[in-house]
Amino acid sequence: MTEKKEPFYITTPIYYPSAKLHIGHTYCTTIADMVARFKRLAGYDVHFLTGSDEHGQKIQRKAEELGITPLEYTTKIVTGFQELWKKLNISNDDFIRTTQPRHEKVVQYLFQKAYDKGDIYKSQYEGWYCTPCETFWTEQKLGPNHTCPDCGRPVERVQEEAYFFKMSNYADKWLDFIASHPDFIQPLSRRNEMIQFVKQGLEDLCVTRTSFDWGIKVPFDPKHVIYVWFDALVNYISALGMLDEDNSLYKKFWPANIHLVGKEIVRFHSIIWPIMLMSLELPLPKQVFGHGWLVVDGTKMSKSLGNVIDPMPLLDTYGSDTLRYYLLSEIQLGHDGNFTLPSFVQKVNADLSNDLGNLLNRTVAMIKKYHGGILHKHDSLTAEDKDLAQLAVKTTHDYEQYMESMELNKAIKSVWALIGRTNKYIDETMPWVLSKSQEEADKVRLETVMYHLAESLRIIAILVGPIIPNGAPKIWEQLGLADYDKAVLGDAAKWGQLADNTVVQPGKPIYPRFDMPEMVDVEEAVTKNKDPKADKKDAHKDTTDKKMINDTGARVTEGMDEAPSLPPIKPMISYEDFEKLDLRVAKVLTCEKVKKSRKLLKFTLDVGVEERTVVSGISNYYEPEELIGKKVIYLANLSPRKLMGIESYGMILSASDVSDHLEVTNVESLEPGSVVK
Ligand code: MSP
Repeated sequence: MTEKKEPFYITTPIYYPSAKLHIGHTYCTTIADMVARFKRLAGYDVHFLTGSDEHGQKIQRKAEELGITPLEYTTKIVTGFQELWKKLNISNDDFIRTTQPRHEKVVQYLFQKAYDKGDIYKSQYEGWYCTPCETFWTEQKLGPNHTCPDCGRPVERVQEEAYFFKMSNYADKWLDFIASHPDFIQPLSRRNEMIQFVKQGLEDLCVTRTSFDWGIKVPFDPKHVIYVWFDALVNYISALGMLDEDNSLYKKFWPANIHLVGKEIVRFHSIIWPIMLMSLELPLPKQVFGHGWLVVDGTKMSKSLGNVIDPMPLLDTYGSDTLRYYLLSEIQLGHDGNFTLPSFVQKVNADLSNDLGNLLNRTVAMIKKYHGGILHKHDSLTAEDKDLAQLAVKTTHDYEQYMESMELNKAIKSVWALIGRTNKYIDETMPWVLSKSQEEADKVRLETVMYHLAESLRIIAILVGPIIPNGAPKIWEQLGLADYDKAVLGDAAKWGQLADNTVVQPGKPIYPRFDMPEMVDVEEAVTKNKDPKADKKDAHKDTTDKKMINDTGARVTEGMDEAPSLPPIKPMISYEDFEKLDLRVAKVLTCEKVKKSRKLLKFTLDVGVEERTVVSGISNYYEPEELIGKKVIYLANLSPRKLMGIESYGMILSASDVSDHLEVTNVESLEPGSVVK
């Protein structure tokens, strides 16, 4: 295991303060944080940047609506971002705001430089314009009868003076660059998408606006403000103090090692940003990594759907390690992943409370009980001991490799396999039996077993640090160790570092179990932030600035924007697993709304062999009467759950698409009780 001293610069996108952040936003920052913490552990000199993207028409409008200045508005929201990152234990080294002078001066300098070089020129923008939305549209994008695809109102033909950036000149150079840098865009599917996009030809990009003024002024023509994406992308170098007298951070950390971004903004980062840098003759970042989206119950979060989950109450209730662990372990990097409160609680209880928390509790409690809390190290080892020691060291190496190749889930899985193996070691060695023996050899054996458990936990504590940074130092302390912050990855690659006579310090359980939430909790969490005024128009407004670039600049590939997507196929299950499901045809005998619930319907079902009560969250989609008499497919052997005080047995199957259209399954010609296979 080598100690690296190289600089490593990682960034997240800078977030729009157009609204509070939701748990989807926390996904990106959590990934970046895990990588940054891992790199520090591996000895890299890390710089981790996040921030806020504060200019643009959308922000100006919001502030006007509230009767405050845009800066007052963004400052309030951005303070909330910073509180959120603190609560989520994000270890960013800097936070850039695009309203800071340190940023504005670099944007103006670079804009001027590109202009002086001849890559920015003045022209006329000609196209369709939606005045209420203040958005330009190309002919192809318009709705029926020349209407705005956002708000549905009629658009006007307009001409606006604007500056354009000569993207078109750089298509070949970009393609050459991508060919010689195969890892620049990750994952591969995104790379292929981007290549296809550029191969269709690039159009020059409109990079200024005159119809509003909340932005950075063009230095040589101040009635224009610089387009928000040109402005925003520069944050990655302005934060390093590129133009400062002391530009040591810039010299050390640019080019960035990785820009971590959501899939819908890979294009801005992998095409526009590199081309801006080519024009400015600055080094290009080493990698743009596009992660997938976090969807909720299978649907992309949006204000209009009312399924936006505020991370703050979740963090207040469950703590930050739990959310971090769920996001990092449950979603395969690059793919979309689903969030549901029950699966979150289930996962956290199983992996953090049971597997890890109990291992620590049992270990320190046994050391206390059997040896007064003192560890004793011996040389006589059995096959089980060696097996555990070897796995621990191998896990550290595997973990390092997975982390270096951004296979975060695999890295986490490998650590949990070690946790599982260590739990199994307790069962194999049966310390409770050894403790009853009066044989000298058994006494020594018990000491060795305790040492192995504690030593395995020492290694685990190091490896889980980047994932669950709250709990990891607590494991360390309970093992009687000090200075967790000084631990390095190399310490996890060496077995036997716990000193003889170390005294463990049993403490409280680090991850207490949570009760399984009733569905009412999910409803509350999900709808807590629902903006009652939110309608379709508002939902579209959120993407106004992003859409500008499509409609004034480079060509758009359909489906590359924020289209809702279907959830990914879940991991394979065995035929035996499937056979465990008891699926039946059931006839709806009664159906009524559950009082005080907006989502729940209560059913009595004839399931052939008996009648069952089921509660289902589909009240938004059906009136109760529509369902009476229907024959549906029913999962009969699901453990019962209490929902709003009603015991619910089993589940009625239904399907919903990306636009949240839902239908219950319906089989009319079969009798209740018929087996579905
Ligand atoms: N301001 C721009 C970025 C400029 S970077 C030079 C922006 N901001 S954003 O607030 O809309 O989004 C920030 C990041 O959050 C994006 O990477 C986006 O993909 C990510 N996410 C927003 N919703 C998300 C999910 N539901 N799931 C995962 N990531 C999501 O775009």
